[in-house]
Amino acid sequence: MATLNVNGKSYQADVDPRTPLLWVLRDTIGLTGTKYGCGIAQCGACTVHIGGVATRSCSPRRQRQAAQGAAGLDR
Ligand code: FES
Repeated sequence: MATLNVNGKSYQADVDPRTPLLWVLRDTIGLTGTKYGCGIAQCGACTVHIGGVATRSCSPRRQRQAAQGAAGLDR
């Protein structure tokens, strides 16, 4: 079970840890403002801020890099 802080609100998500943040936001939490474009971290449609760092939420590798030390997430 993961806890996410999105725009000041806390959410619980029971998802596989390999699930890209984009799909957790859209399908699990129901926040559809973050869009799917290319799915390969190139177009920026899925960009969110993790700890103030703009991050492609379709890319688990970039999420892990941005989340190091991040306290929350803003869209
Ligand atoms: S969907 Fe294109 S960068 Fe994530």
